[in-house]
Amino acid sequence: MHNSIKSILTMSPVMPVLVINKVDKVEHLFEALIKGNLKVVEITLRTSCALKVIEIASKKFPSLMVGAGTVLNEKDLQDIKSVGASFAVSPGCTISLATKALDMKFPFLPGIANSSDIMNLISLGYKSFKFFPAEAAGGINYIKSLNGPFPDIVFCPTGGVNQENATAWLKQNNVICVGGSWIIPSNTEDYSEIERRALLASKLRS
Ligand code: 3PG
Repeated sequence: MHNSIKSILTMSPVMPVLVINKVDKVEHLFEALIKGNLKVVEITLRTSCALKVIEIASKKFPSLMVGAGTVLNEKDLQDIKSVGASFAVSPGCTISLATKALDMKFPFLPGIANSSDIMNLISLGYKSFKFFPAEAAGGINYIKSLNGPFPDIVFCPTGGVNQENATAWLKQNNVICVGGSWIIPSNTEDYSEIERRALLASKLRS
């Protein structure tokens, strides 16, 4: 099933950003996120087992929309598609990467940090972006300012977003969801805590 990136971003108020260091017991992590009512995950390509983890998540947890993050080039795009990822996220973007995703008809959320980035990608047809690193690149005031020249564009702010400030981000009319790593503390095996955090995150907009 092919979903547009915008429809994927509307599935949950929060997209957990996962940096997973080992494959062992990874199923427990996804089970906790699903029990916590989150529907979408971004598994970053920052670890050697990331592709394997994407493959496991895509095959074993069909109710979860599994995306890959830290997609930096065209090879990454091919690799994640071949293991079953449903969408790609990047921290920034190149025209060649954005063009390749369009050629592959692969749902893609490119990262932007300013108006020029947005204009370059709008010229290719993109309308949904990751705003990264959201807090460091200007925070809520910055994203408010982008709504003037780009009223039809939506953003998923990521980088410095957490349970405490997420509500303020989600109140912005150009914020479709937020991303963040806070739901899964690094190296934790406390799956009930992950479920608790996921549940809190899933209710952020209700
Ligand atoms: C990302 O890759 O999107 C960020 O590293 C996540 O940022 P955070 O750790 O501040 O949530």
